Amino acid sequence: MSQPSFNTTAAFQALHAHHAAIKDKSLRELFAADPSRFEQFSIKAAGLFLDYAKNNVTADTMAQLFALARERQLEARREAMFRGEKINTTEHRAVLHTALRAPSLPALEVDGQQVSVDVHAVLQRIQAFTTAIRSGEWLGHSGKPITDIVNIGIGGSDLGPKMVCQALRPYQHAHLNMHFVSNVDGDDLDAVLTQVDPQSTLFVIASKTFTTAETMMNAHSARNWFLRTGNDVQESDLRKHFVAVSTNLEGVTAFGIDPANMFPFWDWVGGRYSVWSSIGLSVALAIGFERFTEFLAGAHAMDTHFRNAPLEQNMPVILALLGVWYRNFFDYRSLSIAPYHQDLSNFPSYLQQLEMESNGKRVSLDGSMLDVASCPIIWGNVGTNGQHAYFQLLHQGSDITPVDFIATLTASNQLPGHQAALLANCFAQSEAFMRGKSAEEVRAEMQAKNVPTEEIDALLPHRTFPGNRPSNTILMTALTPASLGALIALYEHKVFVQGVIWDVNSFDQWGVELGKVLASNILGELTSTPAPLSHDSSTNGLIEMARAAL
Ligand code: F6P
Repeated sequence: MSQPSFNTTAAFQALHAHHAAIKDKSLRELFAADPSRFEQFSIKAAGLFLDYAKNNVTADTMAQLFALARERQLEARREAMFRGEKINTTEHRAVLHTALRAPSLPALEVDGQQVSVDVHAVLQRIQAFTTAIRSGEWLGHSGKPITDIVNIGIGGSDLGPKMVCQALRPYQHAHLNMHFVSNVDGDDLDAVLTQVDPQSTLFVIASKTFTTAETMMNAHSARNWFLRTGNDVQESDLRKHFVAVSTNLEGVTAFGIDPANMFPFWDWVGGRYSVWSSIGLSVALAIGFERFTEFLAGAHAMDTHFRNAPLEQNMPVILALLGVWYRNFFDYRSLSIAPYHQDLSNFPSYLQQLEMESNGKRVSLDGSMLDVASCPIIWGNVGTNGQHAYFQLLHQGSDITPVDFIATLTASNQLPGHQAALLANCFAQSEAFMRGKSAEEVRAEMQAKNVPTEEIDALLPHRTFPGNRPSNTILMTALTPASLGALIALYEHKVFVQGVIWDVNSFDQWGVELGKVLASNILGELTSTPAPLSHDSSTNGLIEMARAAL
């Protein structure tokens, strides 16, 4: 289902003209002209609230953006995904992470696979296993209960479980310590191994393919460490301490993990969409199966909203279209994510993979070059920390960067005063980005403090804030398994919608292959008998330096 070039569509042309007409209208002016912007440009769904009033849009802009989505066949594409059509065309795969969080009925069958039956059968295994570990019934080889879980994985097999476990910290089992190892840099694994006891540690080897170099190297090192440092350990003891989450039964068995200790998933689950699958095993271990099902239910609530709500009242659609508006009409090149919740500090890096690995593409589904830009750069950090680091650039720098503020109305902690201070900062920043501070306001303020005119004139440009910098604010009552599930699903569907508008395949990631192949060649050159090098002079030089040091 390929699309005509984006910039030849009627909606693009109309939006282009509309942009020229409204681009100089500031957010201040838009708010002054319409006191009902908050009511008009906000929406609730699946326990989340989105205020998008502080964006450079009018009702007309939004209407034209919805027309664009319709012209790009969004509704039909959305249905195709939920029905299990092979929309990942370069890998000939369906895209069914939504099925991982759907109830067992109505049943879904794709390509002869009883998808819902298989999903719920694996969930039952996750329930039994996590209950046994959490209750202390599952014992390590020497009879000790498990106290430490080490998730070894990278990309989607790390970022999701790590981010969710951290976000749901208050729900974590009091006697289970969660660790995440991803980097091939031995320091990552080493730092964890020095903290844990082999007799009471469970390694979860999480890899969809079970071939990813970093994960395999870490898994083998962990296995060797276990066999070396454990107390009178036999190979057969591995089954009490190593489990796998993968789609590759052969690879798991070859590694020496008991197939009974393998939690499967399927090729229609993309790595960056896999936290809902067995890849969420570490999450279920940390927060318990019941909470894990609440997490799935929160995402399902957002799926139901996304699938059924008209585009005009559809939160992921709105978030996506605003992103397209800025990327393709204002030429804003990055999006900053600012969670005002410490436990969401890994959320920006999670979104980096979700958005940039999905839509960081420059060819359309039919292989032709895109005629417009696609995914912006996603980056960010928690508030209020970011305020004291890079917010200067956001307020007064040369580029305009839209910001997604994410906050909870209530805190996960009980410390008096902190939550009000946190929210005050969050709301103040979006107000400051929107309003700015004009030269007249700065002058009046300085005059009131009797600053000499000469000094006012010198400082005025430095102390003026241009404002008119857009942001969204996403609020939820509290950070719970359900609200977190809904939040992640919101961004997943946003990414899907943008992929449809840009006409890219949001579900492959060929761009990571080249570096992997070259790294494997260079590894051979670093570790085997030195042979003449045939790279460019820079790469040859670097390899020679490493050869001398290793
Ligand atoms: O970086 C490429 C990638 O394939 C990601 O898409 C994926 O999440 C990650 O590597 C890990 O892959 P695997 O789960 O197969 O080890």
